[in-house]
Amino acid sequence: MAKKPKTVLSLCRATGVLHLGNYLGAVRDFVALSEDPNAECYFGIADLHALTSLTDPEKLRPATRQVARDYLAAGIDPQQSALFLQSDVKETNELFWLLCNVTATGELLRSKTYKEMSDKQPENVNAGLLMYPVLMAADILGPQADLVPVGDDQITHLEMARNIAKRFNHRFGETLRMPAPYRKSSIRVPGLDGKGKMSKSDGNGFGIAEEPEAIWEKLRVAYTDPARQRRTDPGNPDLCPIATIHRFVSPKDDVEKIEDGCRTAGIGCIDCKKILHGHLSDLLAPVRARNQKLTDGDVSDALAAGATRVRTRFQETVATVRERMGL
Ligand code: TRP
Ligand code: SF4
Repeated sequence: MAKKPKTVLSLCRATGVLHLGNYLGAVRDFVALSEDPNAECYFGIADLHALTSLTDPEKLRPATRQVARDYLAAGIDPQQSALFLQSDVKETNELFWLLCNVTATGELLRSKTYKEMSDKQPENVNAGLLMYPVLMAADILGPQADLVPVGDDQITHLEMARNIAKRFNHRFGETLRMPAPYRKSSIRVPGLDGKGKMSKSDGNGFGIAEEPEAIWEKLRVAYTDPARQRRTDPGNPDLCPIATIHRFVSPKDDVEKIEDGCRTAGIGCIDCKKILHGHLSDLLAPVRARNQKLTDGDVSDALAAGATRVRTRFQETVATVRERMGL
């Protein structure tokens, strides 16, 4: 395969089933990027990073594989893009150590994520939490990524990867390509419980490959503006997660219709949710259809092929880095 002009790389957390928030906020952009003929895409699942907050080893592998499956269902074509598990790329660990030696400890200690995670799991402030950004730098610099789609929460980590590359290049000569952030659409999908964003741990969403009936059961009981006690009580769509999701997935006409209807009590919440359900079902129908055809073998094959491809890129980088460092 001829080398394409730009290399795109992103890893995501090994969370298990991808929900609508993951899809609208990230995975849908990845699929679009993967269809760009100028972009060579590498999509990974960060199962090594998951170890810093590991609670249940038995759950990690199924969760990791589920993410891989959902990526394929979402439309990532493994013939085009490399889909891989971080832990299958042994070279990541080697590059990680090499990069540790050009990483400033001060920067690691000041990291906001490190502080947050230490507060979140005070019983387990392991060194992995501190080194997290160096491993992430290895993920990025190993395949010589040009563009890294990341959410706002990961921008500082990417900045650290850039600093590591800069320091390496400065000290050992131009070796590592400088990665740039690729800002994703900052869509923040609210949870169906009305308490912040849709998140796996809060169980306030639904999987992208779920059956329409199952999605309806969750929508049906979802939080709505509490002012609408009775069908005749007017509501405020700005206080309702259903309206926000409508804005992301429904055509403009329908969004106007439900917003007006909500304010004037011209529409009931169940009808409003039914309209949303219709649009969601259309949006996710291709995902569900692909998911039904996918076998475990397909997922394994895609991951094996993806690992081979990304490792080839890593091996080149690691060889040069070793040499430059005098090994
Ligand atoms: N830390 C990222 C997150 O929590 C995941 C990640 C690991 C990543 N390695 C990466 C993202 C490399 C982009 C590039 O979402
Ligand atoms: Fe929410 Fe729609 Fe009910 Fe208004 S009508 S409160 S937007 S579900």
